[in-house]
Amino acid sequence: TLASEGHLREKLGEMQHRGLAGVTVDYTAVSKVNPGTDSLLYRGYPVQELAATQPFEAVALLLWNGELPDATELAAFEEHERAHRDLDPAVKAAIDLLPLDAHPMDVVRTAVSVLGASAPAVEVADNSSAADLAKAKLLFAKIPAMVAYDQRRRRGQELVEPRADLDYSSNFLYMTFGELPEEVVRRAFTVSMILYAEHSFNASTFTARVITSTTSDLYSAVVGAIGALKGALHGGANEAVMHIFDEIGDAANVGPWLDDALATKRKIMGFGHRVYKRGDSRVPKMKAALDTLVAHYDATDLAALYDALEADFVSRKGIHPNLDYPSGPAYHLIGFDTLTFTPLFVAARVTGWTAHILEQTASNALIRPLSAYNGVDERHIDGYVPDS
Ligand code: ACO
Repeated sequence: TLASEGHLREKLGEMQHRGLAGVTVDYTAVSKVNPGTDSLLYRGYPVQELAATQPFEAVALLLWNGELPDATELAAFEEHERAHRDLDPAVKAAIDLLPLDAHPMDVVRTAVSVLGASAPAVEVADNSSAADLAKAKLLFAKIPAMVAYDQRRRRGQELVEPRADLDYSSNFLYMTFGELPEEVVRRAFTVSMILYAEHSFNASTFTARVITSTTSDLYSAVVGAIGALKGALHGGANEAVMHIFDEIGDAANVGPWLDDALATKRKIMGFGHRVYKRGDSRVPKMKAALDTLVAHYDATDLAALYDALEADFVSRKGIHPNLDYPSGPAYHLIGFDTLTFTPLFVAARVTGWTAHILEQTASNALIRPLSAYNGVDERHIDGYVPDS
């Protein structure tokens, strides 16, 4: 017999905390999400201000170190990043072994794992803050090459070597498309990277912290976080938004499509949030960046579909867009394959993940919650006689 449901509900306080909803599990000084005002601060700075004024490289240093860099610190980090952005031969060989239809999230997860397994074991095991910060900076520099090369190989194109005279965003786009991005594109891409960089104890960051709490290594924690980010309820939603746009096809089809989707209880990807209930603070900045891309690419049909779906869904359900809603179409216009969208999120969020890994290690407590058992009652093997 199963333990009674009533007993279980009592134990979990009517199950109101399933999925850890509403549960505060630890302190963090990395970012502050304020659902009351729908605002997000990285180390105290509103994310909108950072997106409007900073290069992504400076935001990465802010997340790791707690302060924005001065010009000398930023220049030193840029030089380091530019010197480490090539695709390692072992990583390229591992990617080349994978089928062309492997999901790009599986590819980047595998590539990060190979990078970690190729490093000297003592370095991997060293979880001092200096060693982990060095690994964080290495991953920041290396992930773009993995993502860019994977998109290219799926298109039958050769690897593009990085260019050390370009900033992070220009080089990422150059390695993906083989040509220099126009400024409007580079700017929109940088805004997306900054907005995706960090978001407190979301599922992938919490995964990274759980793995770190066992004193496992930084690469393992990032690999686990990539696995958590892949799901459509988390990072996979930016990809799912484009699939929905493809399904709907045209702004005129939004009404009947939504009738059908809601009748069959489908989740509309790119809408809703576990924390923000009145709107995601990152959306206005990303929507403004999307608008510049719509003008640049003259993508009025896509913009009409975007607006029609948002207006209709918000009026019916009062559920607002999250960051994935404007970022998916933005990445589409820039020319990324839909399947590459979530790996772009990885390239950005590796900053937040690693800032949390550093914080978890600096003040560690093993993360090991309890569960309420609802399986069969205790029973015994027939004929078993316990030792006396
Ligand atoms: N489409 C349709 N209905 C929705 C949606 C949605 N996108 N989001 C929430 N709802 C409804 C639910 O069906 C539920 O209704 P009910 O009470 O009648 O059953 C109610 O709103 C509450 O939703 P939950 O899923 O219980 O709320 P939760 O806090 O767990 O959900 C989540 C948050 C998972 C993000 C949800 O809104 C969702 O699935 N959205 C679509 C996926 C998505 O866009 N994810 C991206 C997250 S943000 C990011 O990673 C950048």
